[in-house]
Amino acid sequence: MVKNRFNNLTSKQWLPFQKSWYKFDSITELLIKNILFFTKVDDETNRSPNIFIDADDKVIKQLAKDELLMNRNFITKKNLEKTDKLDFVIFNLLDIPGQKREADKIIHQLLDDISSIQSKIIHRKFILILIKNEFNKGKFIPRAWELAKTLQQYLSLKDEKIGVDLREENLNQEKQKPNYYKTKNDIVYSLYFRKDERSKFDGMSLKHPFSYYNTKQERAKIFNRKFASWQIVKPPPRKKDEILHPAKYPEVLIQSFIEHFTDEGDNVFDPMSGTGSTQVAALKLGRNAFGTELSEFFGKIANDRCKKETEKTSLFEKKDVKFSIKIKDAVKISKKDFQPVDYIITSPPYWDMLNMKGAENQAKRKAKGLLLNYSDSKDDIGNIEDYDQFLNELVRIYFNLFDLLKPGKYFTVIVKNIKKKGSNYPFAWDLSERLSKKYILCPESFWFQDDQSIAPYGYGNTWVSNTFHHYCLTFQKPGSVVK
Ligand SMILES: C[S@@+](CC[C@H](N)C(=O)[O-])C[C@H]1O[C@@H](n2cnc3c(N)ncnc32)[C@H](O)[C@@H]1O
Repeated sequence: MVKNRFNNLTSKQWLPFQKSWYKFDSITELLIKNILFFTKVDDETNRSPNIFIDADDKVIKQLAKDELLMNRNFITKKNLEKTDKLDFVIFNLLDIPGQKREADKIIHQLLDDISSIQSKIIHRKFILILIKNEFNKGKFIPRAWELAKTLQQYLSLKDEKIGVDLREENLNQEKQKPNYYKTKNDIVYSLYFRKDERSKFDGMSLKHPFSYYNTKQERAKIFNRKFASWQIVKPPPRKKDEILHPAKYPEVLIQSFIEHFTDEGDNVFDPMSGTGSTQVAALKLGRNAFGTELSEFFGKIANDRCKKETEKTSLFEKKDVKFSIKIKDAVKISKKDFQPVDYIITSPPYWDMLNMKGAENQAKRKAKGLLLNYSDSKDDIGNIEDYDQFLNELVRIYFNLFDLLKPGKYFTVIVKNIKKKGSNYPFAWDLSERLSKKYILCPESFWFQDDQSIAPYGYGNTWVSNTFHHYCLTFQKPGSVVK
């Protein structure tokens, strides 16, 4: 049996925490779960771990008297001088009652605080920050992402867990005047950093100021409904032709977006169609479905699925819905190829992860004789090894779609942050930052997976989550809607 050197949990208790999303209805409960995972009372020496915590006094008191957390010492700014060794560090930037400071000040204070305690943090120990993105006066300010990207230069960004805040008092109480796409303000990021051999703390300052994002542009006023900030879908098992594709998304998920962002008869588009899930979802809802796909093999599957869909239901006898998926490199799409579109929803290759030996699922797929990657084409952006080059190419493709999308209309991209060879590449955040130079960044929503088995990565040694959340990033093309 593997000895657990990381915490005092049994393997059965270890696994559920590894899921990359969780729901909570009290901050105390959330912190207890984290403290139990990230601290260890040493069985031999009986040494009690020291936990630095910056949170509301009431919460700290509750934690200090909780039976589950016996033998843990809680250290605050007030009694910091008592210790020179910190085993775990927590900053709660969610709600500090009576201290409604401006967000910018809170972030600067956090950087100062980390600078001043960093020498006490034990090598390879973790720092947890709880923080929300913000939607304020029509502007989406991704504070959590910006902070994470800044801190990543000083500490290793190890992981993230997406929390759904079920506390009543915290749901967005904003008066009903939502003229633009928005979600419930209930997503909390648990960001996990580690002090390790890569850490350096010189000149710590905010390197990704929020103004970087293009938030000043006028929003088109068309939607007046809130969209879910997260959803769990239970797709039916994939059919024979669909399973051939290594990374397909479920039609039911895409239907919820299409219903929200379009009307019947609108044109829906996907530049990387794969098996045609976007188009099948659009057709089911009486929308026209267009797109491109590089691989001839998958392009045929996609077109066949669309054809079957249009033959299947009587809906299509009444409505004149069209579909067309062209075999084409998405970077070469021109305005002349398709009619102007009302909504784009798509998911790109998650960098070159399918080419990584030992990547999730690869071994199982190989055993079943299924395809391991999309293609060997050099134009397939899933074959680009260099991260920056991959991002550049993808952004080039998405910028190229700008002319195809009608003004004021929306564009959703489904992606994941990526862990590769022990490093964290915040693909979703990097992509948002780049795309927001041309499109207006809207609040994020999540697709949570709840039907996957959890693998005990890092058991007994370190924290590595199973990434079961996908970012559904939504952007709007600036300008007024013309029907
Ligand atoms: C994540 S998959 C899309 C899966 C699709 N959403 C589905 O549900 O079937 C990404 C797709 O992008 C395609 N692709 C990669 N590079 C491309 C390019 N330059 N132009 C068009 N398609 C490309 C791949 O062949 C792959 O099918």
